[in-house]
Amino acid sequence: MSNIQKLQQRYSEKNNDEGLRGKKTSESKTVMTEMIMPNDTNPLNNLMGGNLLRWMDIVGGICAGKHCEKHVVTASVDHVSFQKHINLGDVVTIEATVTRAFNTSVEIYVEVFAADVKGHNNRRCNHAYFTFVALDDETMKPTQVHPLIALTAEEQDRYESAARRREMRLILAGRMKPEEAGELKALFTRR
Ligand SMILES: CC(C)(COP(=O)(O)OP(=O)(O)OC[C@H]1O[C@@H](n2cnc3c(N)ncnc32)[C@H](O)[C@@H]1OP(=O)(O)O)[C@@H](O)C(=O)NCCC(=O)NCCS
Repeated sequence: MSNIQKLQQRYSEKNNDEGLRGKKTSESKTVMTEMIMPNDTNPLNNLMGGNLLRWMDIVGGICAGKHCEKHVVTASVDHVSFQKHINLGDVVTIEATVTRAFNTSVEIYVEVFAADVKGHNNRRCNHAYFTFVALDDETMKPTQVHPLIALTAEEQDRYESAARRREMRLILAGRMKPEEAGELKALFTRR
């Protein structure tokens, strides 16, 4: 039995003693659609990167909040690159899904697509991984989150790789020593 199957066996879809239950990706998937207006653009009439990041943060935060059923804050954003520009008048679709829930944090995968107003020239423009931390309503301190049940092969791939991404970002943030990064180490030593 794989590690993922073992983990998922531990969490049924019913609440345990701590009020936590395994939740599927589909329960919190969030999609936002926006048309690019003059106020959203840079001097070249393309969508300004900062505006896109803001929308990605909002969609990711809604997705994280739905999964955790708590208020969440953005802890980090990684691997943002603007691969294709988005024009004035284009329609942008931003999709967010939970890839993995850890202890008090969740990793959210945000993908951005754009098309013209007629739905033509549909293209994937951007993607990023966000980490959100759930806060307890009373203490406003980090609190435990519901585990994620990854069902499809794609969800399970993202679930597994999320552990390596988490170690990498915690090392870069100075919160983990490289020698403690067991998942990353396993990637290089696995035969
Ligand atoms: C994120 C925040 C809640 C972490 O608080 P903290 O007291 O350091 O809490 P902890 O050390 O208990 O860490 C809590 C979780 O955050 C994660 N975390 C902390 N810093 C992180 C970072 N830079 N990248 C990714 N995850 C991070 C930890 O790994 C932990 O997750 P886990 O429990 O699932 O393992 C706190 O730093 C904060 O409030 N930051 C400001 C958030 C904010 O205002 N965002 C809005 C936009 S700037």
